[in-house]
Amino acid sequence: MWDQFTNDTCLPKEEFPCSARGYPAYVVNATTPEHVKLGIDFGERAFAFYIKVLTNSLVARTHDVRLVVKNTGHDYMGRSIAPGGLSIWTHHLNSIRHHVGPFKLDGCDTSIPGNAVTVGVGAQMYDIYSATDAFNETIVGGGGKSVGIGGYVTGGGHSILAPRFGLAADQVLQMEMVTPAGKILTVNENQHPDLFWAVRGGGGSTFGVLTAVTLKTYPTPKLLSTAWMAITDPDASFLYDAIAYALSQFPSMGDAGLSGYTYITSRLPNPVPSPGVPEELAGVLGQFVLQETEDVQSLQNILKPINQTIQERWSGAVQVITSTKPYSSFLAWFEDHYDQGTAGNSSYLVSRLLDRHALESDEATLANAVQEAMSISGALGAYIVSGKGVHNASPRGGSNAVNPGWRTSYVHTRFPALQRNRKDRDY
Ligand SMILES: Cc1cc2nc3c(=O)[nH]c(=O)nc-3n(C[C@H](O)[C@H](O)[C@H](O)COP(=O)(O)OP(=O)(O)OC[C@H]3O[C@@H](n4cnc5c(N)ncnc54)[C@H](O)[C@@H]3O)c2cc1C
Ligand SMILES: *[C@@H]1O[C@H](CO)[C@@H](O)[C@H](O)[C@H]1NC(C)=O
Ligand SMILES: *[C@@H]1O[C@H](CO)[C@@H](O)[C@H](O)[C@H]1NC(C)=O
Ligand SMILES: *[C@@H]1O[C@H](CO)[C@@H](O)[C@H](O)[C@H]1NC(C)=O
Ligand SMILES: *[C@@H]1O[C@H](CO)[C@@H](O)[C@H](O)[C@H]1NC(C)=O
Ligand SMILES: *[C@@H]1O[C@H](CO)[C@@H](O)[C@H](O)[C@H]1NC(C)=O
Repeated sequence: MWDQFTNDTCLPKEEFPCSARGYPAYVVNATTPEHVKLGIDFGERAFAFYIKVLTNSLVARTHDVRLVVKNTGHDYMGRSIAPGGLSIWTHHLNSIRHHVGPFKLDGCDTSIPGNAVTVGVGAQMYDIYSATDAFNETIVGGGGKSVGIGGYVTGGGHSILAPRFGLAADQVLQMEMVTPAGKILTVNENQHPDLFWAVRGGGGSTFGVLTAVTLKTYPTPKLLSTAWMAITDPDASFLYDAIAYALSQFPSMGDAGLSGYTYITSRLPNPVPSPGVPEELAGVLGQFVLQETEDVQSLQNILKPINQTIQERWSGAVQVITSTKPYSSFLAWFEDHYDQGTAGNSSYLVSRLLDRHALESDEATLANAVQEAMSISGALGAYIVSGKGVHNASPRGGSNAVNPGWRTSYVHTRFPALQRNRKDRDY
């Protein structure tokens, strides 16, 4: 997914041919928890196992080789790739099993009301969405079709549905995992509650190797979807003020039930060039949804005052355009709106969680911060993927290891911190 972590081998360019450099020396194609255990236990000489928490890497117990867990390879920090190491590949642990509730936890009498789905840790978003949609249900899942549930859930897991239901880690009822000591465990609120707490948000490959996850499912919501654009001339002196104003509205939009993704750009070729319209655009391009409604008026009630303020403050120089479409299910919406970014890039992404104070208290400071972040690549992703449902979530067992910043944030921003400027490796 990210070329820099495999040392730019195997690029579709003659100068960067395929070679083993940049890849693990051996890969365990795990299709059972026992395969994972064999990988962890590898060898005969008994070195003490240890976990390098800081580098987030496990070490195969008996040969002291660097051990890495790979599911899909989407990790933004390359933590699923270890040149020369031993890789446990969980891609084929991809079963999907739906349960009509209540769901009885392993090893105790607790039964949890509501339907659920147990997925192998290699199951990918689109496959889980399709499987649950057959029951008119969905999970809280992400915007990329091929993101694997393993890394997603252990990282917290944000979603366009999260502002209503909580993060993906808040939906977990039970997990199956293999510990660094080679034990195959089923963890839940009553059984190994410490591991159950830690793995839900504590990071991938930190506390062990997951093999299966049981998640709560929800009746699939109807979605009223809207493309919302506030655009102006890229050279407008007030560009960052207008962007900061739009961002300052996100907490109240979130409180009103909107969630979604925005792409903020300082310069983009106009996708629909026409006479009298600038050839390049700058501003906020958003995709928002309102759940469980078909009422276009309720959507306009949220967006209209924002447009009015924009028209008043920049007297017609910022155009606000919307187009709205209803969807009968989450999957129907996803088919039209999933993340279509191509694989194979070399940026290093950073992110910031922004709470109400950061967004509302000081527009000039926010405008400066946005300009600073966008100075590197000219773009910023700002996602309304947190909100009431995340703030008030009640994960099983009372809490989990999700970054507490999520519990007060509204917006997750994301941008490349460092653009590699190596012309010879562009393709
Ligand atoms: C196109 C794209 C869209 C995305 N959209 C979203 C989104 O909408 N919401 C969101 O929250 N995130 C999103 N992400 C981020 C994504 O959730 C993380 O990159 C996640 O870590 C990917 O998990 P993975 O298992 O697919 O990838 P991998 O790179 O294989 O693994 C990620 C991490 O988890 C570890 N890991 C993998 N499998 C296991 C396992 N079985 N047991 C223990 N540890 C394991 C790996 O060692 C690594 O540290 C997106 C990423 C991409 C590239
Ligand atoms: C990465 O590639 C460069 C050449 O492009 C090479 O010099 C270096 O040794 C490689 N690193 C690894 C870890 O293979
Ligand atoms: C990995 O295992 C799966 C399931 O047995 C199999 O279908 C697949 O071909 C294997 N892949 C490789 C590269 O061996
Ligand atoms: C899903 O919803 C559709 C439309 O309401 C209905 O026809 C179908 O029977 C439902 N399927 C299930 C499995 O409930
Ligand atoms: C925003 O307001 C302007 C001026 O009143 C109007 O022309 C435009 O259609 C409005 N846009 C939306 C999406 O309501
Ligand atoms: C890589 O990222 C840059 C900057 O975000 C973008 O312009 C380019 O299209 C991306 N390339 C691919 C292959 O996704």
